[in-house]
Amino acid sequence: MPESHRVAMLGTGLIGDFYTMTLHGRRGRDRVEVVYSRSEERGAAFRERWGVPHSTTSVEEAVGHPEVDTVVVGLPNHMHEEAVAAAAAAGKAVLVTKPLARSAAEARRILDTVERAGVFGGYLEDLVYTPKTLKALASTRAGAVGDVLWVRSRETHPGPHSAWFWDAGQAGGGAIVDLGCHCIEIIRSFVGKGNRPVEVMCWADTLVHPIEAEDNAIALIRFESGAVGQFEVSWTFRGGMDLRDEVAGTEGTIWLNHFLRTGFEMFTSGGGGGYVAEKAEVETGWQFPVGDEVAELGYADMFTDMFDAMEQGRQPVETLYDGYVVNAVMDACYRSAASRAWTPVELDWRGGVAPRVARAERTEDGLVVIKEEHLPDGRRKLILKDPASGAFVDRVLG
Ligand SMILES: NC(=O)c1ccc[n+]([C@@H]2O[C@H](COP(=O)([O-])OP(=O)(O)OC[C@H]3O[C@@H](n4cnc5c(N)ncnc54)[C@H](O)[C@@H]3O)[C@@H](O)[C@H]2O)c1
Repeated sequence: MPESHRVAMLGTGLIGDFYTMTLHGRRGRDRVEVVYSRSEERGAAFRERWGVPHSTTSVEEAVGHPEVDTVVVGLPNHMHEEAVAAAAAAGKAVLVTKPLARSAAEARRILDTVERAGVFGGYLEDLVYTPKTLKALASTRAGAVGDVLWVRSRETHPGPHSAWFWDAGQAGGGAIVDLGCHCIEIIRSFVGKGNRPVEVMCWADTLVHPIEAEDNAIALIRFESGAVGQFEVSWTFRGGMDLRDEVAGTEGTIWLNHFLRTGFEMFTSGGGGGYVAEKAEVETGWQFPVGDEVAELGYADMFTDMFDAMEQGRQPVETLYDGYVVNAVMDACYRSAASRAWTPVELDWRGGVAPRVARAERTEDGLVVIKEEHLPDGRRKLILKDPASGAFVDRVLG
């Protein structure tokens, strides 16, 4: 008989709601037993909203609740380390939302605390678990796109929904830390987690909002295999939330669109009102709702993997070590943006060695085949290179 889990939810904000909606959805057997909020009123409102038995204004009381076996950290970034320490001290499994921390050093301390305590740890990176991504990853691992050469991941929206995100001290940065963390882990999943991120080149700027942190950034991540990751993040994009990924391989291509074009488009002149989807800007006109937001954003498969992993005594797909690697890549991005140069990713690597992307090798009469072309008149043409002279030649067949 599968186990059921009792959760202490730390935080009653947007992610506390999404996580609890996921856990309590579809008659789920895993339940939030106690919720922590600084404010008694918000704790009581959360209890009421989700049918949670207990609330408390003490983190220690929440994590130490005797019924609770799992702590979910859904607090602002600057509170993750303290919350994880409390959960680990209480001997509870701990699942931490993204980003794991504000820096690789902080992430490393979180990882060490959990490993020293010997409790289960998981990194709640939902966008690696969207149903589309899971299927695309399975196809990639089965060889459908050949060797992965380039992965592009984009997350942009008009900016976060709470004050603390905008304060680089509390958040650890701007759009890179908030959104780039998702993109980096999506990219790592496609290029292979055993593929070391070697160096990055990043541009970041504060273009629109009156803040110190970056509200736009683009970065290239070069992996050991030669593959490159590219992320684009923005807090100034208008029109909702744009979540897109592209994978280019030697044998195929994948394009994923998670949010604004999911096949559900609706026009309304008004009247119905209310919530459309996360970061949607308008409630009238053409809209792009999301059918089952917590499932399509990966939360459902993510919690399933976390609890299955706990019961099966294995690591989850997304570990706290993964969260640490993501922070190390983001730290390198900030250093690169400041120096305007390619910058090494500094990290304690556990992933092993990845082979270089394979180059295609085919010859025809001693000449190297570079490409085969199909001409409009039906004939085929080979583009060849003579290895002796270095000359490039066309050869039309048939
Ligand atoms: N897709 C995702 O995985 C995803 C989405 C959104 C947020 N997050 C992450 O979840 C965490 C929380 O973000 P959110 O969107 O829920 O933020 P939020 O502002 O909606 O909620 C934050 C919660 O923490 C509480 N809080 C704020 N400052 C506090 C303090 N000093 N002490 C105690 N409680 C405090 C707030 O009252 C609120 O309940 C962040 O780490 C964020 O990056 C993840």
